[in-house]
Amino acid sequence: MQTIIRNVEESGDIFEEAGKIIREGGLVAFPTETVYGLGGNALDSSASAKIYSAKGRPSDNPLIVHIADRQDIQNIAADIGTKAEKLMERFWPGPLTMIFNKKAAVPYETTGGLDTVAVRMPSHPAALALIRAAGVPIAAPSANTSGRPSPTTAQHVAEDMDGRIDMIIDGGQVGIGIESTIVDMTGEVPMILRPGYITKDMLEREIGTVAVDKIVLARSADELGKDNYVPKAPGMKYRHYAPKAELIMLEGEEQKVAAEINRRAEADASAGKTVGIICTDESSGRYEHESPQCGGRIIAVSIGRRDDEATIAHNLYQVLRDFDTMEADCIYSETFYDTGLGQAIMNRLIKAAGYHIEKV
Ligand code: TXA
Ligand code: MG
Repeated sequence: MQTIIRNVEESGDIFEEAGKIIREGGLVAFPTETVYGLGGNALDSSASAKIYSAKGRPSDNPLIVHIADRQDIQNIAADIGTKAEKLMERFWPGPLTMIFNKKAAVPYETTGGLDTVAVRMPSHPAALALIRAAGVPIAAPSANTSGRPSPTTAQHVAEDMDGRIDMIIDGGQVGIGIESTIVDMTGEVPMILRPGYITKDMLEREIGTVAVDKIVLARSADELGKDNYVPKAPGMKYRHYAPKAELIMLEGEEQKVAAEINRRAEADASAGKTVGIICTDESSGRYEHESPQCGGRIIAVSIGRRDDEATIAHNLYQVLRDFDTMEADCIYSETFYDTGLGQAIMNRLIKAAGYHIEKV
């Protein structure tokens, strides 16, 4: 299949063209304010099946349904309470996904067999224009091959999806850089299933107590093995967001972490490996950037200032993909604050590391 790439700045009505592809059962990748999505008609079971196959995604992992106008939810979700109404009022359009009981119009192929459906109204103008032009709600997971870091540019999408989908809408680099916050609204107390840009505090300011699913903060696969725990967002159980190299996180006092990362990086480089290091503006001077006399090399990349979590979130997937491009064999990362937006950053990194986090 030939994948057409169109820039949002191009003349001609690209949204009409893209909307028609969606209506006819095809797939279009598009920018949102969080990450690029891989869109298909959410009400068409065969379009959802195509999304799973293009991503290589397990079919029990449900898709998020994207809408452009509040009334679009009527046909999709049932039992929307006053708390959800408040959150929509405050955070839509924006990076918040809510889970409701699904209506019959949404096929089980879209919800991975569940009786609930995830709904979000993105704020990116290109996403809204596409949904409106399509005239149907759009099911869209992140537009990466299953397991890889989510795409934050159209080039990332093309790396993973070229030849597998009909069209990519290039809207440049996205703003936020990590996926939406997911909140399950079907229980008595709303529960965060995946942390994101909209933090627990921001939600609680609107609707009072919000719980957090245990998997969000888990630091080891063992912690989850206890009590036959089953994550409520099926996607959270898979290794995710992962670069090709092995990623190891080291946690502890900052100087000690730098010393340990340097020790391991030098040993790996001496064995001829290419080693990536994820650090911050503050710590970057502590790392050996040059390769030792051996065949390997060490590349330390700052992800931003430690207290500037919006920038760290914005750079996270780009940095992981850059290490893929540099063909890193292994990557060491410092850890970051895990409150506020930091919770989403640490959640993604720990998963990308396959829970490989060590104390020094
Ligand atoms: O920011 C975002 O949310 C991006 C952009 C494209 O909108 N989309 C995204 O989709 O991150 P995806 O498919 O990569 O992640 C969706 C997550 C998965 O972990 C999935 O298991 C969970 O949402 N999910 C979807 N429907 C669900 C449901 N009914 N119940 C529980 N979890 C659900
Ligand atoms: Mg994803």
